[in-house]
Amino acid sequence: GLPDIDASKLTITRTQTPKALKKPEDLIFGRNFTGIPAFPTTKSMNKTYDHMLSIEWTARSGWAAPRIIPYQNLSLDPATCVFHYGFECFEGMKAYRSNVNGKPSIRIFRPHNNMRRLNKSSVRIALPAFSVEEMTKCLATFVNLEQRFIPDKRGYSLYLRPTMIGTQSTLGVGSPGSALLFVIASPVGPYYPTGFKAVSLEATSRYIRAWPGGVGDMKLGGNYAPCIVPQLDAASRGFHQNLWLFGEEGYVTEVGTMNLFTAWITPEGRKEIVTAPLDGTILEGITRDCILALAREHLTKEGWEVSERKFTIGEMAKAADEGRLVEAFGSGTAAVVSPIRRIAWDGGIGGTPRDIMIPLQEGKEAGALAERLWKWMEERQYGDVESEWRLVS
Ligand code: COI
Repeated sequence: GLPDIDASKLTITRTQTPKALKKPEDLIFGRNFTGIPAFPTTKSMNKTYDHMLSIEWTARSGWAAPRIIPYQNLSLDPATCVFHYGFECFEGMKAYRSNVNGKPSIRIFRPHNNMRRLNKSSVRIALPAFSVEEMTKCLATFVNLEQRFIPDKRGYSLYLRPTMIGTQSTLGVGSPGSALLFVIASPVGPYYPTGFKAVSLEATSRYIRAWPGGVGDMKLGGNYAPCIVPQLDAASRGFHQNLWLFGEEGYVTEVGTMNLFTAWITPEGRKEIVTAPLDGTILEGITRDCILALAREHLTKEGWEVSERKFTIGEMAKAADEGRLVEAFGSGTAAVVSPIRRIAWDGGIGGTPRDIMIPLQEGKEAGALAERLWKWMEERQYGDVESEWRLVS
């Protein structure tokens, strides 16, 4: 077969103009003018990059030798297929600086998972697959080279953005004969610099994010652009984000660009933490997977059942009315855990518009479960608690 990505062939060309480091205080993720975080955004990410990882592919020759090069513009023919037919997929992941008991290390959080997911996305849009193992090695070399950008401060990290695009110059609609896989990095601050800020959502049935047989379970750029107008629409009525529903039943799927968890007491009186199942309409969130694992590890012994199953907005409303709704929060790489305080819902077919209020702790912007799950995540991201969820470099 044709050559796969080969980390042993990686070459490094260092920049001649290293960037000045920003003060950590200036690296606040997702800060906006209201002071209330919008959901994950790259708006405030800092263009302080020195290098990028770049790997070219052609149908004729396979993957070329990986290169780390000075961060630079791409030069592409206007007829390049990415501009016309959306051949683009990406990942979002983070590397953390750890300093436990005087032992410093850089930890990339679950990189194999992101690289596997990138492969899944790319093959769905006729872009090439690659060796997860070899690509992860290249990524680790890149992170090591850029590690001075990871502030030595809790809450800070290096956000990594692996991206693949089709680069063949053609208006013909077909599988791209060439592609580029590149990775850029951006130091980011804590999503909640002054503690959690619970968000208000508008449940939308007018706009549908994903559907059975579609690509809502892939991290394609094309899934994100169509969500901006609905988000602005919800924002014009004072909501931070959309709660994405599906079908006449009003199945709860995702929130903004995150997976969604609900904790409630079921009508039968059981304590349940529930999130939508991976049925093809839900992004296979790596934070989602962590939250499920942490909930199973720590919360089942407190009597919580942890379920991946379909549930509806109507069930959430009924639980709220009957005092059974415990918490709801989003999960994602950028914010990690994002507590929800209120959901406005039109009541569904023939229903009456109403608000669903979600309990928060007295005087706090998060429920106790969200707070604890976030803490368990952070302990593993920074290595306070050792786990399999990292590549130490
Ligand atoms: C997330 O981390 O929740 C995201 O979806 C990242 C976003 C910047 C696309």
